[in-house]
Amino acid sequence: MQKKYVLKMPGAVYSGENALDSMGEILKDWGTKAAVFTDRGIRESGLLSPVFAQLEKLSGEYVIFDELAAEPTCDQAQDAVDAFKKSGAEFIVAVGGGSVMDTAKLASVLATDDYSVRDLLDHPYMAKKCVKTLMIPTTAGTGAEATPNAIVAVPEKELKVGIVNDAMIADGVILDARMIKSLPGSIAAATGVDALCHAIECFTSKKRNPFSDTFALQAFEMIVKNIEKACDDPGAMEEKSNMLLASFYAGVAITASGTTAVHALSYPLGGKYHIAHGVSNAILLAPVMKFNEPACRARFALAYDRLAPDAGAVTEAEKSAWIVRRMEEIVEHLNIPRSLKEFGVGREDLDALVAAGMEVTRLLVNNMREVTPEDARTIYLEIM
Ligand SMILES: NC(=O)c1ccc[n+]([C@@H]2O[C@H](COP(=O)([O-])OP(=O)(O)OC[C@H]3O[C@@H](n4cnc5c(N)ncnc54)[C@H](O)[C@@H]3O)[C@@H](O)[C@H]2O)c1
Ligand SMILES: [Zn+2]
Repeated sequence: MQKKYVLKMPGAVYSGENALDSMGEILKDWGTKAAVFTDRGIRESGLLSPVFAQLEKLSGEYVIFDELAAEPTCDQAQDAVDAFKKSGAEFIVAVGGGSVMDTAKLASVLATDDYSVRDLLDHPYMAKKCVKTLMIPTTAGTGAEATPNAIVAVPEKELKVGIVNDAMIADGVILDARMIKSLPGSIAAATGVDALCHAIECFTSKKRNPFSDTFALQAFEMIVKNIEKACDDPGAMEEKSNMLLASFYAGVAITASGTTAVHALSYPLGGKYHIAHGVSNAILLAPVMKFNEPACRARFALAYDRLAPDAGAVTEAEKSAWIVRRMEEIVEHLNIPRSLKEFGVGREDLDALVAAGMEVTRLLVNNMREVTPEDARTIYLEIM
């Protein structure tokens, strides 16, 4: 019997050269007053001017929330929701990385309701769409513009938690490579590796299906072929453009499948030690892939056949090893920290890390190789 698969996507996606110019077309029936969600880094980078110019051409009425927190806690996200509720704005334009887009998603489902972000931690299905969202990613990236997820840190748990509800899927997305043109190299590298993790984790997830495989493998190929040049060369607009599209594809893959042990073990590193999401994933990528390799060998070999069929590997084991090595090489090349040492995490933190990591069952259950507490301990020890 055929199985049933569902693929949920944003309402409309505008991509390619000057895609931002389509903003008016997307927003024309959304109301008169916009709220622009963004953060200080974006504002200072000058990326907002073309967005404001487009809004001026529409009704000209908008409020700006430009102090949103990076990798927000649930309470910081709540502050943004409260401010949005008071603003009287009718829809949201989110211009930023995952932090901004996730905050915007939460505001979009809480705007007319009495319950809070904290309520959604335990009951995410309460969320229903209150106002529309247009997502304009400025990193490539989290893929948050495609997913139904909003990730917040929960301080008392020292963990990041994903709130997942289809009502948070964006109504419109604009992928314009001009928004990532001047992304600082270290942020481009970390966010690019985040997208790489999304692609390979979704491709090797127990939840994968034909839809997620299509997007995950395409994203994986594009990221592996473009990430180094896109990060090294400020003028490499074609590679940057490919990264933006690939991170969106990887986000679609998350929606249809799910990430696995890299993301699960990464959440405590963000929640307790405030290591940037892409950086903690990059530190974990190679150790987790090596751990997963025996269970994922056939999948890695498939990725090899797609990516580098002429690279000389013959057996499944050789192909799989090539893929694992290539991922390790990318992280090395991009000069992202490869251990927890520089973040002040030591062996005394190990028990708490293992306990917190093992709590992320939502993602651990997707991992093709079971991760026991002893395994988590070994992996964390390896990166200390
Ligand atoms: N919702 C999802 O599906 C999903 C998926 C993965 C990660 N996330 C979450 O997203 C957050 C991380 O998002 P991120 O990695 O995009 O980083 P971010 O949004 O936290 O941004 C990092 C920094 O980069 C700056 N920045 C962003 N774009 C810039 C640009 N074009 N030019 C100059 N500076 C720029 C920002 O101002 C900020 O200081 C984490 O909280 C993570 O958990 C969400
Ligand atoms: Zn991620």
